[in-house]
Amino acid sequence: MINEILKKGEFEKNDIIELLSLTDKDDLEKLYSAAYEEKLKHSGKFVYFRGIVEFSNICSKNCFYCGIRKSNKGTERYFLKMDEILDAANFAYEQGYGSVVLQSGEREDEVFTDFVEEAVKEIKKIGGGALGITLSVGEQSEEIYKKWFDAGAHRYLLRVETTNRKLYKKLHPPDHSFERRVECLKIMKKLGYQVGTGVMIGLPGQTLEDLANDVLFFKETGVHMIGMGPYIPHHDTPLSDSIPDFENAKELQLELGLKMIAVVRLVLKNANIASTTALQALSGTGRELGLKAGANIIMPNLTDTKYRESYQLYDNKPCLNENAGMCRGCLEMRIRSIGEEIGYNQWGDSLKFKAERESLSNN
Ligand code: 5AD
Ligand code: SF4
Ligand code: FES
Repeated sequence: MINEILKKGEFEKNDIIELLSLTDKDDLEKLYSAAYEEKLKHSGKFVYFRGIVEFSNICSKNCFYCGIRKSNKGTERYFLKMDEILDAANFAYEQGYGSVVLQSGEREDEVFTDFVEEAVKEIKKIGGGALGITLSVGEQSEEIYKKWFDAGAHRYLLRVETTNRKLYKKLHPPDHSFERRVECLKIMKKLGYQVGTGVMIGLPGQTLEDLANDVLFFKETGVHMIGMGPYIPHHDTPLSDSIPDFENAKELQLELGLKMIAVVRLVLKNANIASTTALQALSGTGRELGLKAGANIIMPNLTDTKYRESYQLYDNKPCLNENAGMCRGCLEMRIRSIGEEIGYNQWGDSLKFKAERESLSNN
């Protein structure tokens, strides 16, 4: 059964649901290795680094699942100084990471948007524009996205979290809008960003059909990058008890996360797919498993250790007591252990984006 589906090359919704339903260990191995083979075709044995700076946990939103939501009074709020961000970016440059990601809670006020613009411009100066810059700072107006693009940001990550509208409504307060998220992705694409999105996997009430719809949504919207991870309850949120006995559910949650990576690789083929930190919150080798299931991007944490405790979107986040150098060494070792190499000093742009550009210029 699985062999027949894998042979197809193009997958319909029912095929995707079948693949996501696999439980037999041999079948799962077949799925992961087919996805890994597909990854090898596009990025060879390389994994690309995106050093992530979590520069502020101040958020104007209140997503019910997130540990830094506005109403969580248990988290001490911080906002990095420009120098601290530039120190992290310089570290990334010196270590040959190729790219950085600036991530924070969502804010649309001018103090914030001006600061981000300035940060992008300053990072661009490092090594004469050597670093690729990805922003992951939420929904914004077209004008702001354009300003940041013109400043030098060329990739943007904005997860839609789930494409099931009803579920989206259950996970967010009434003024949070799925439609606006999708509109933002369209605007970014139009402006010329490499666009990334993603969902949380294993959300309470989420079905395999929902996940299959998510995968088809990624395909239809023509996004270039995918960042997805298993949902992990945070103790200080309205959804803290949403998965009963989470300790025992972890293994299945991880497995579903890996199946999604594999399926997205098989469906999107040449997109960049991250093996996210949330996988490692569920298992010590979670990120290696993500790479073996078809991911090709890792985001080493560059955030100064003293802020890490306050940037916990979910419980059990790894690397809280480590620093950027330790994470580098650790990931290098992990990546080597599975026979892969790090694409140092390269942007590692999405091949999907490049292919799209080439077909545009040939027409
Ligand atoms: N579990 C897993 N991922 C989460 N995120 C936020 N809260 C959680 C959680 N409890 C993810 C969201 C968001 C990204 C920055 O972090 O998908 O887009
Ligand atoms: Fe803010 Fe993002 Fe967390 Fe929602 S998921 S509360 S927007 S940081
Ligand atoms: Fe941070 Fe392993 S990746 S310590």
